[in-house]
Amino acid sequence: MAIAPDELLSLDDFERHALEVLPAMPRDYYRSGAWAETTLRENRAAWDRLRLWYRVMRDVSQRTSRAEVMGREAAMPVCVAPTALQCMAHPDGELATARASARARVPMILSSLSSTSIEDVRAAATSVDPAARTWMQIYIGRDRGAVRALAQRAQAAGCDALVLTVDTPVWGIRERDIRNHFRVPDGMRIVHLERPGGPTGHAGRGIHEALAWTIDAGLTWDDVAWLRASTSLPVILKGICRADDARRGVEAGAAGILVSNHGGRQLDGAPATIEALPHCVEAVAGRVPVLVDGGVRRGIDVIRARALGAQAVCIGRPVLWGLACAGEPGVDRVLAILRQELDVAMALAGYASVGEITADLLGP
Ligand SMILES: Cc1cc2nc3c(=O)[nH]c(=O)nc-3n(C[C@H](O)[C@H](O)[C@H](O)COP(=O)(O)O)c2cc1C
Repeated sequence: MAIAPDELLSLDDFERHALEVLPAMPRDYYRSGAWAETTLRENRAAWDRLRLWYRVMRDVSQRTSRAEVMGREAAMPVCVAPTALQCMAHPDGELATARASARARVPMILSSLSSTSIEDVRAAATSVDPAARTWMQIYIGRDRGAVRALAQRAQAAGCDALVLTVDTPVWGIRERDIRNHFRVPDGMRIVHLERPGGPTGHAGRGIHEALAWTIDAGLTWDDVAWLRASTSLPVILKGICRADDARRGVEAGAAGILVSNHGGRQLDGAPATIEALPHCVEAVAGRVPVLVDGGVRRGIDVIRARALGAQAVCIGRPVLWGLACAGEPGVDRVLAILRQELDVAMALAGYASVGEITADLLGP
């Protein structure tokens, strides 16, 4: 049954309602984590363990949630994480997400496994705001020529960064998808991967079989240099959880480090991203921005991430839930809730601006 987005008060409300309205195959594809889903659960639970040692009497009458994100100002330190196949959640899919992100003035990262092309996504985003920011997520598959062509296409379309996902030498195993015989629905296309005569992803048992050919288990740090050389766009590395890898990523020329475990969909048992974040922040030592995703569901999570040294957070599933519940107005509402919660959380914690948030918020 259709629901007015205003009736949903939190990102958790969106999740609950989306799980009711989505058919089993997309619902399980979106919500799943790998294996026992321990990391998926921990991504959320670990945020909740961080206590907020708020300050009082600090004149928070004039507040702003604006913040620099990868060198440019955004309305809040939040980005939309790349999630594949958004047209399974709503026919408008990535176009709705692009317009809603542009309206909310936050960067959107487009999945290379999207159901809509980067050119169409850019057109949708810039129709709302000519200065809208889109970053292209990249998997390096075995066909390096196709990867380079996609990176160059993203640059030509007006993307201002590439986001190289490094946590996927093979696909994590999501058992619900195997049980459901997950396949890309008929009529839906993974547009960036299509080549005449090439595989389409419409076969296989579970996405780890259907899309095995889109990734390469042979990736090494040298591939970062290779991707950097294919365009002049900055490259953000997504999927780092360790200090030594974060350091190595910066040495390899990354313009940013996105601490992520793919929303608990890759190595189950990996630490919650909020646990990994401080190690990576320390290793990067301010040389490039550090972002984080995984389980961000509340404005208080945004101030927690800032207190631990992240420049911004990304949200993955909540955008899919927004699409599933109400299409574009649903994504508008998800981003508006987060921004409003952030504003109130800042006031209650004693901050007038995002830049004032420091580590002592999490304990004296
Ligand atoms: C359904 C789904 C599809 C995803 N597809 C991609 C993808 O194509 N590329 C990628 O780098 N990450 C992908 N991710 C991971 C997200 O970018 C992000 O890391 C994760 O969802 C963040 O956690 P959250 O969903 O708890 O916010 C996907 C996640 C989900 C849930």
